[in-house]
Amino acid sequence: MSTAAELAQLPQRPEAPRQTTEFRITRPQIVGPDSPEAPFPILLAGPVQKGFGRGGKELGCPTANLPDESITPISSVAKTGVYYGWAQVLPPKDGKTELCQDDIRVLPMVMSLGWNPFYKNEVLTAEIHIMHEFKSDFYGYDMNALVLGYIRPELDYTTREALIEDIEIDKRVALNSLDRPAYAKYKEDSHFDLSCSVNPS
Ligand SMILES: Cc1cc2nc3c(=O)[nH]c(=O)nc-3n(C[C@H](O)[C@H](O)[C@H](O)COP(=O)(O)O)c2cc1C
Repeated sequence: MSTAAELAQLPQRPEAPRQTTEFRITRPQIVGPDSPEAPFPILLAGPVQKGFGRGGKELGCPTANLPDESITPISSVAKTGVYYGWAQVLPPKDGKTELCQDDIRVLPMVMSLGWNPFYKNEVLTAEIHIMHEFKSDFYGYDMNALVLGYIRPELDYTTREALIEDIEIDKRVALNSLDRPAYAKYKEDSHFDLSCSVNPS
């Protein structure tokens, strides 16, 4: 049980701006400079955790959450918000997995770092949505990610549909932004394991 003094030390969820129609219709289709600038690239790694499961069920956007200690490299240098980059789910050491070779490639991702103001979370989370249809779940598997750019602040919403619509725009913006040569080349970065393979049983 935490004391009141301990609770007062914990970071609190700040108020988030409310999404407006004007914001949505004026969103750029590509974001960030022609090549990543500091603090990017930011390297993240850790075992995939279960969130509340709302991403897949309610938003059509399943997310792989990183544990608290894996968030430090980004939360200490970057503000909360939505980011884009590359991510890779690593197979277990013996290669035995339901995943297929296609699932363990370096793939495009969008990441939400923050308090999910629409859901009023009480803790900061980093949730990565990898833009790929996976053959099976991969909770507990190690994941490596390289964050290369910032898309937008996290927002509060009056409807779930408006949040879903913004997430769909985030995915398109991420793909357009990663398509530039100086961003695409990070797919081959040494942070990733380009030689790993699955071992079909
Ligand atoms: C690309 C992306 C953008 C997001 N933007 C917001 C946002 O602006 N506001 C918000 O409250 N949550 C946002 N979320 C977080 C979702 O609310 C969260 O992923 C969802 O609640 C699933 O969480 P869970 O896995 O813990 O269930 C975003 C998530 C993603 C993947």
